[in-house]
Formats: sequence, C-alpha cells, structure tokens
Amino acid sequence: MRRFELFPFLQYYQKRHQYHRRRKVTPSLAPRQDLLQCLLQDGIAIMENFIDRAEALRLGREVQHLWQNRANHPGMETLRKNGRDLILDIDRWLPETKVFFESDLVNGLALAYLSPEAVPLRKSSVLTDHANEDANINFYHFDHWERWPRAFLYLTDVTELNAPMYYLKGSHHWGLWRQSKEQDFFRYYEIRLGKETHPSLESRYTGCFLPPESSTLSRQLGFSEVVCTGQAGTLVVFDTYGLHRASPLQQGYRLAFSTTWRLPEVSFPLEQTTEQEATRC
Ligand SMILES: [Fe+2]
Repeated sequence: MRRFELFPFLQYYQKRHQYHRRRKVTPSLAPRQDLLQCLLQDGIAIMENFIDRAEALRLGREVQHLWQNRANHPGMETLRKNGRDLILDIDRWLPETKVFFESDLVNGLALAYLSPEAVPLRKSSVLTDHANEDANINFYHFDHWERWPRAFLYLTDVTELNAPMYYLKGSHHWGLWRQSKEQDFFRYYEIRLGKETHPSLESRYTGCFLPPESSTLSRQLGFSEVVCTGQAGTLVVFDTYGLHRASPLQQGYRLAFSTTWRLPEVSFPLEQTTEQEATRC
C-alpha cells in the first residue's frame, strides 16, 4: 500500500507547477509546422528521409569505426547501459554529425515545442547490438515529470526486428493517471542528489507501467501505439514525457544519433543527467 506523504507531495507539486509555467510553446521557431503539430498532438513526429539513406549508412560506418577504435581515442567517453553502447559527445569526434546535431530543423522543432530557453544535453551515438536483452526500458514508461524532447537519427534501417521504439500517441498530456508516478520521480531525483543513482531496486522502475497497466490506459484514454520503424536517415522526435518503450533486438543491430533537450535551472544540475539520460531509450 502506497503511503501518502504530504510534505514530499507539496514539494513535488510546487516544483512541477513552477516548471510547467516556464514551458513556452513557440511555433515561430519550428521550420516545419506540420512536424510541430504532430509533436503537440501526438507527442511524436517522424520524418523519413531527413537525410539521404546512403549518407546515413555512411555516417553509421564512421561511428562503427570509431567504436572499434575507441582505445585509440583517449578522452572518448563511452557508456554501456540497458544493452546499449553510447559514445558521448560524438560531435567532438565526428564533425559530420552536425547535419543532425546542428540542424535548424531539429533544434528549431525542439525549442518550439519546449521553450526558446531549452538547451541540448550531450550528443551521443547509441548502438544496440545485444540480442534479446531484458531492460526496464522495455516496459512502457515516461522519463521524468519534466518534458524532455528527444531526437533520434537512424543510421541503420530499423525494422520490427531491430529494436524499434514504441510510443503511445497522446500519452504526453498530463492526467491523474500519471500523478503518483511523477511524484515517484521527484522523490527519486531528490534522493539521487544525496548519493546513489538507484536507492532501491524499485526506483529503477520509476515511471514504468506493467503491460496490463499500459494496455488498460491505452484502451481507456485512447492512446494509439506507433512502432518507430524507418530506414536509415529517418528522424524521430518525441516527448519523453509520453509513454514509450524499447523492444528487444531480434536481428542485426541498431545505430542512431540521439540528443535530448531540457530547460536550464531545473531541480538538479544538468551535468548530472548524463547517466540518467543513458538509462532511458
Ligand atoms: Fe525512455
């Protein structure tokens, strides 16, 4: 039985209220209004052929080469989490990544959706190459009680066998159904600021919904599931405040660039978010 605690609830409520007052949707910043409307309405926008498939595959080979030769790059930060291998600050090692990370379209979309003040976090490549790994992110979940828009650029073709992300359209709106889990996130980060990343086994699953819970929510609230497949060069922009999940890799591997935006001056310093970002798909 969940115990109601008034003081943490009030703290959460106050911070959440302050945070969401700072969000400022600014359509004029979006170079593509159709994509912004998808993002606002569904929580996700997918654009095929953001870059040419052959160019995306070439970038993917460059990343693979970097990964295989990472021992020759002192200072390169890598991270393995939830079956994924990340190269952090990939833009430092591969300048051609600016086609994505410095794209006016991508950045404009994120800032239009969240706020002109939004800032991108560290820019990563994300490689999924271990088949059938269990992970907490394979449950439908949201990443935080803040809105963190995230963008992927696929560097490989992603079919249903290549660990596509699943997203529940419409689940990025606030509702009572998510309040207790948002409060759990608040507690989790407050505790995390103390010392530990995961203070308990339970907190590792903060924001997660069991399959019967997410299917019931979908039925009752009208969420519709989208499977984010697409060929190399596809752009996926989504709000991690909506319900999304990873899926186990069944064949081949999946490689993508990824970055996330947040509002500055939040409840904990931006530089502490890197590992957390990596724990979520
Ligand atoms: Fe996530």
